[in-house]
Amino acid sequence: MNILIIGGAGYIGSHVAREFLDRGHSVRVFDNLSSGLRLNLFPEAEFIHGDILDYTGLSRASAGGFDAVVHLAAFKAVGESMIKPEKYSVNNINGTINILNAAVEGGIKNIIFSSSAAVFGRPEYLPLDETHPTNPESYYGFTKLEIERFLGWYDKLLGIRFAALRYFNAAGYDVKGRIKGLESNPTNLIPVIMEAASGMRKEVEVFGNDYDTPDGTGVRDYVHVSDLAIAHAMALDYTSKNDKSITVNLGSETGISVLEIVEAARRITGKPIPATIVGRRAGDPGKLTATSKKARELLNWTAKYSDLDTLIKTSWDVYKNQQ
Ligand code: WQD
Repeated sequence: MNILIIGGAGYIGSHVAREFLDRGHSVRVFDNLSSGLRLNLFPEAEFIHGDILDYTGLSRASAGGFDAVVHLAAFKAVGESMIKPEKYSVNNINGTINILNAAVEGGIKNIIFSSSAAVFGRPEYLPLDETHPTNPESYYGFTKLEIERFLGWYDKLLGIRFAALRYFNAAGYDVKGRIKGLESNPTNLIPVIMEAASGMRKEVEVFGNDYDTPDGTGVRDYVHVSDLAIAHAMALDYTSKNDKSITVNLGSETGISVLEIVEAARRITGKPIPATIVGRRAGDPGKLTATSKKARELLNWTAKYSDLDTLIKTSWDVYKNQQ
């Protein structure tokens, strides 16, 4: 199939592009390189340097008979979204409307959208399933939820079929070592730990050890980015073959604590990785885990690479060269 990947030079987008190429699809990447990197591009994929806020350029890039658009072009810093909501409104919401309209204009029938566990907000029960109430705690999460709603209307009114993939904590790097771009100024736990291991930062701050979890530190559901990439391909199979939209959680269904990750990283990297306990980060729940039963049943997807050691090893393979 012909696939347009918007945000395909980013951390997750490049893994998604790699997966579609590996499956023999033809790929065009559209990215403004605001956080994406040329290093993440592949020679087999066509690249267009453009911005989703430029409707003319976007609609030109969306023409030419694409079967699907994968939309990963969003700002994703939760903290920043609470301080600069306008920035998130413009890029995430207006940008998505442009993508949807360009897809309609270009006759693209399938949209695979990067949604987020952030749509749920504070958990009322665990593990989170797709029917859990959605009450985002951040403006970022709100933009993702609103986009899911736009997708629902475009499905109903215009026959667009979508997959909204609610990622839990994406981590790790391509298991075959083909993607090497580092995110600049990361705030997520595993890249922060990798930066500490490679000497790019002094230490890891552990945000609270007084949660109601086995070791007191935050527990999350980490899912390998290669597993996420595979899910995009399976989701497109689903929407295109069944002519049906789908919203699914994508997680490993395993809760891992901050300290478990720090300890595994020390063991795997052989580096001391200094860690200091500091106060809780505002808005952080103690524990978040997913059930991916729906993805398993409807997409035939299970996480293959999301065990703790593979998450850390594949990350370290990239970060160790930074020393
Ligand atoms: C993981 C755990 C922290 C950094 C975020 C978004 C979510 C989704 C995924 C996009 C928590 C602790 C972290 C550090 C720490 N994004 N931590 N020290 O907050 O679970 O999820 O990314 O869709 O919407 O909120 O991920 O990696 O920031 O934190 O102790 O320096 O690590 O408190 O328990 P989070 P994270």
